[in-house]
Amino acid sequence: MNHTQAKVVSVNGLIVRAEFEGGQPSVGQIFFLKDDEPTKFQVIGIENSDILVTLNLSELNIKQGDLIVSTGETLQLPAGDGVLGRVFNSFGQTIDSDEPLKNVSYIPVEDDNNTQLKTNPDTTIIETGIKSIDFFAPFVKGRKIGIIGGAGVGKTVLTTELMHNVASQGKEITMFVGIGERIREAYELRNTLADAKILQNTIMYLGQMNDSAALRHMVGRSAATVARYMRDNSKKDVLMFVDNVYRFLQAGNELSTMLDAASSEGGYQPTLFTDLSRFEQNLSSSKYGAITSVQTIFVPADDMSDPAVVEVNKQLDSIIVLSRSVMEQGIMPAVDLLATNSSLLIPEIVGKQHASLVPQVQAILQKYISLQGIVAIIGQAELSLVDQNYYRRAQELINYFKQSMSVMEKRTGIAGEFVKRQDMLNEIDHIVNGV
Ligand SMILES: Nc1ncnc2c1ncn2[C@@H]1O[C@H](COP(=O)(O)OP(=O)(O)OP(=O)(O)O)[C@@H](O)[C@H]1O
Ligand SMILES: [Mg+2]
Repeated sequence: MNHTQAKVVSVNGLIVRAEFEGGQPSVGQIFFLKDDEPTKFQVIGIENSDILVTLNLSELNIKQGDLIVSTGETLQLPAGDGVLGRVFNSFGQTIDSDEPLKNVSYIPVEDDNNTQLKTNPDTTIIETGIKSIDFFAPFVKGRKIGIIGGAGVGKTVLTTELMHNVASQGKEITMFVGIGERIREAYELRNTLADAKILQNTIMYLGQMNDSAALRHMVGRSAATVARYMRDNSKKDVLMFVDNVYRFLQAGNELSTMLDAASSEGGYQPTLFTDLSRFEQNLSSSKYGAITSVQTIFVPADDMSDPAVVEVNKQLDSIIVLSRSVMEQGIMPAVDLLATNSSLLIPEIVGKQHASLVPQVQAILQKYISLQGIVAIIGQAELSLVDQNYYRRAQELINYFKQSMSVMEKRTGIAGEFVKRQDMLNEIDHIVNGV
């Protein structure tokens, strides 16, 4: 086999530059430390026609003068029915048990080349049983939902509940991608999925907090490669849950700093937009199957104008906003009902009744906010009868959207609630239009 060899000339964090001779290696190609096979480097660019810029994918220390070699291969991942029920790292290695994989093919990690995209997006609604989501930010096949909020407002709990509720319904494949979050949470999730008998139909990819920026940056692409294989070869729909997209962008920023790239808006990497578009593009549907995704987005310092948060928002069809002030009122899930929004609330998708109820509910909630100031001064009884009516209906609505989660049952002792979409619409209709 033909080996390319290169000699390390500089090391800056995970960025390793090496001088090569002979044929030019390609981006994505994997190199190994000559004296230590498992240590991997991935080519991310070529400088001055003879310097390879590589990413150290291992935790190992490396120094100037070390030799790295390549057989020309890119990273290959296992895919197919045999990966169901298993947990992988960014390289596609199992990290749950030593049990060997059966019934898998190995496929190269790559971005979606997007040749067979569906032109007619599906409009099938997937019921989540969670009232505030089904009403304000419907889950539609092949589309993207974001769960956005500051630290500890309930993004992970809501994501787990969604997985629990939608994965148990259908014949789809469920995929969970953990990026830069707590490793403990991923194992708790695995137990939750096992208890709910969904694990055997789930693939988990983890590049968590304890992993290097290179692995956190890479894990989404690896998972998406496998998801697309399942979509096109197994011809299955995939439900993809990503916790947390912000951590992916943050990892890209860490790498960018090591590459000495000048930062741009808000201190982020100049490639923020392309990083994110590629990430989102990799989660699209084809004529064989749909990839429906749920992505959590951490909001640093509760600042919704953060440039990374703003960019992610633009990519999503429905956005559930979780808010600290709602949580402080003891309302769970802590959904900010007025900030939560979706471009899918049109009659062609959600039907006439639903599409007409949403603006009515929003108007009542809006009115409630404007009346709150007055009520604080003069009391509810002093409002006009019309306004009292608004005020009471708004309170009923806010109360109605509170909901207990099945995945919290073990901790709270309160049974989870799954509400059928049509029941919800009728009940809301009653609150809004009832006498
Ligand atoms: N729907 C809920 N019902 C009851 N408790 C909840 C709910 N959502 C969140 N909590 C409580 O809040 C805690 C934090 O929630 P969670 O871990 O989901 O937040 P997060 O937004 O993912 O936080 P981080 O930004 O740290 O990832 C939970 O451990 C739980 O105690
Ligand atoms: Mg979380």
